[in-house]
Amino acid sequence: SFDEFEFRNIQVDRHGGLAVLTVDRPKALNALSADTFVEIAEALDLLMEDPEVGTLIVTGGGEKAFVAGADISELAAMEGVYAGREASLAGQDVMHQLTSLPIPTIAAINGYALGGGLELALACDIRVASGTARLGLPEVTLGLLPGYGGTQRLARLIGAGRALDLMLTARQVKAEEALAMGLVNYVADNALTKAREIAETMLKNGPIAMSLVKEAVRRGLDTTLEGGLEIEADLFGMAMSTQDFREGTRAFLDKRRAEFKGE
Ligand code: CAA
Repeated sequence: SFDEFEFRNIQVDRHGGLAVLTVDRPKALNALSADTFVEIAEALDLLMEDPEVGTLIVTGGGEKAFVAGADISELAAMEGVYAGREASLAGQDVMHQLTSLPIPTIAAINGYALGGGLELALACDIRVASGTARLGLPEVTLGLLPGYGGTQRLARLIGAGRALDLMLTARQVKAEEALAMGLVNYVADNALTKAREIAETMLKNGPIAMSLVKEAVRRGLDTTLEGGLEIEADLFGMAMSTQDFREGTRAFLDKRRAEFKGE
């Protein structure tokens, strides 16, 4: 449990079905050090052992940043093909772990989301930006490229043209422009408050159905339309075999709210 595990770089809070993971190194604008990655991976594992947890918000500690990227001091101490590849793969693994969670995830972008920070937000299902958010992939200003999935996930999310613009210019995008290009789903005064509202809405929905939605979209992006439609039909069949489906449809016909059990 979290009581037994001392995190130094992140905080994890749970209230009922909602978990909030805060990357919390405000002095380095929450930059993702290697230790921070290890802790995020550990926290995600622990959260998934708890069947009560139905949704996860990822956010940043302090006033200024969501996450300002990979830890540049650590990167600066590395050199060579092997070290670079390993660092990229290690970060990609944690982003993949986050993307593959069976519960819906929301990035509450409360400030700078740059480089690895934007990649962390891209690994979530839904992104909410505060008015003060600044998003970008400035890696080329460091002689690098996004290495935690950004080149792939950004192009899939907003299209190759817009993704290339952001990655080649390294420019920072404000919340409203991010909204207009589909980089974030919502803009709100307080990103965390809005994220909590969205989480509460999702917690009322069928948890198995939501995990199947995520699986259908994720697997579909890796295949042809035909292949994706087959995946959809298979998962639709699985949904119909659940108690949640019986409860959801019965509740509608009885004109009451469904009480899903995740069975
Ligand atoms: N890594 C390590 N430390 C960082 C950091 C990072 N990514 N971002 C900020 N910090 C540190 C600063 O060094 C500074 O530390 P000190 O107080 O000890 O000097 C502290 O956080 C506060 O930052 P600033 O003084 O720079 O704050 P600012 O308001 O002037 O600027 C900022 C804010 C524009 C976000 C600026 O900090 C910045 O440009 N940060 C780096 C952003 C970046 O390039 N990220 C990409 C990293 S590469 C990457 O992510 C690789 C990958 O995909 C695999």
